[in-house]
Amino acid sequence: MKKLFIKNYGCQMNVHDATRMAQLLHDSLGYATIDAPDEADLIILNTCHIREKAAEKLFSELGRLRKTVVSRDAIFAVGGCVGQAEGDNVFKRAPFVRLVFGPQNYHRLPEMLDRLEKQGGRVGDYQESVDTKFDALPAILTPGVIASVVVQEGCDRFCTYCVVPFTRGREWSRPVEAICEEVTALVAGGAKEIHLLGQNVNAYRALARDGITHDLALLIRRVALIPGVARIRFVTSHPADMNDDLVEIFAEVESLCPYLHLPIQSGSDRILGLMERGHTAAGYLTWIDKLRRALPDIALASDFIVGFPGESEADFLATLDLARQVAFDHAYSFIFSARPGTVAAGMGDHVPLPVAQERLARLQEALGASQLAKNLARVGCEESVLVEGISKRDGGELTGRTGHNRTVNFPGTPERIGQIVRVRVTDGLANSLRGQLI
Ligand code: SAH
Ligand code: SF4
Ligand code: F3S
Repeated sequence: MKKLFIKNYGCQMNVHDATRMAQLLHDSLGYATIDAPDEADLIILNTCHIREKAAEKLFSELGRLRKTVVSRDAIFAVGGCVGQAEGDNVFKRAPFVRLVFGPQNYHRLPEMLDRLEKQGGRVGDYQESVDTKFDALPAILTPGVIASVVVQEGCDRFCTYCVVPFTRGREWSRPVEAICEEVTALVAGGAKEIHLLGQNVNAYRALARDGITHDLALLIRRVALIPGVARIRFVTSHPADMNDDLVEIFAEVESLCPYLHLPIQSGSDRILGLMERGHTAAGYLTWIDKLRRALPDIALASDFIVGFPGESEADFLATLDLARQVAFDHAYSFIFSARPGTVAAGMGDHVPLPVAQERLARLQEALGASQLAKNLARVGCEESVLVEGISKRDGGELTGRTGHNRTVNFPGTPERIGQIVRVRVTDGLANSLRGQLI
């Protein structure tokens, strides 16, 4: 049996793609996935292009792996968003790489490998293709407790800093029926929590066979009717594509987790304008208000970028203010990274790195403080926890997630894995909770 090693970078969509690749290569060519690269016959680096140095890291990782992998015939492949964006450059910089492909092409992996075997040499397949990918992919037969379903892919928003529209291509929504069939199969395979994925999932729109146009809210209502779906989440949402229906479902759909990841990026309207986000800070806060009115204890998560070209101390303070005002349950924050081909990369007035670093530290302190306060506020509460597995830190403990997306570790035995259990929270830490089974 041939052995496959996949190393993954980037977002949940990339993680999902890797699962699909592994299933495809297993079903069509008999590849078994292994956890260490040494014995691999095929090594795939499923890359991310979102921030700088991705390419640099890729080439050093390739060099390192080349020394580790035992078989001289092993095939090195680069997939994902760097594959899409850098294409031929990968072959130039790392001539031993024999296969490069993008996120819209990986369903053709068996053909690519066949071509490599017959013709030798190299194969590059990163032309953005028509969206036949999902029809060509086999179903995931043994999903985890949490399983992802792509409902929408690509992005037409072209925020001025972002490469995703160039790597994932245009916005495209999958048919309602295909999504429901996939969810039904995942649940039959043991999945309890379904994540509906999209680069801009709020842009979901598809005409169903019943003649009704489904937006994301309607799709969620439909998925919630599928027996066995205990929990639903969706990621990632764009504030300019929010609507009142998407607020209402949080109060109405019981299986929808009380959690929303709604990236804001900056609290300054001037910077939001330069980013072409299509909304203001006040507009964002209106959605936060509406969400909290519909569901007072909804958990809110966000993304921030500091050091965008031209960001002044006053702009940054507006961001810090907004972060404090909302008091997010969780947030990611990054220093602006100039990406090839994006509008922002050509903007003048770059913020010096030490200034950006200092702003990031201040923002992260504020975000960390609100996250910790939110975690501490759960102490004494009873939570429903979907048990995902054995805790990595302590083998005698289980780990799972609350509806609010908080990790909880608690003593327990493995037969609980896959169940939703009641846990009393005993401790709130910086990044997780501790608890006791009730
Ligand atoms: N589709 C998602 C975001 C995908 S990228 C959305 O719009 O919400 C995830 C996060 O990476 C973004 O929210 C942003 O905060 C960050 N990011 C994207 N491009 C970046 C860049 N050029 N520099 C720094 N951070 C960036
Ligand atoms: Fe990138 Fe903006 Fe699209 Fe998100 S919405 S993927 S940040 S272009
Ligand atoms: Fe990265 Fe591509 Fe996802 S650039 S964040 S892997 S869409």
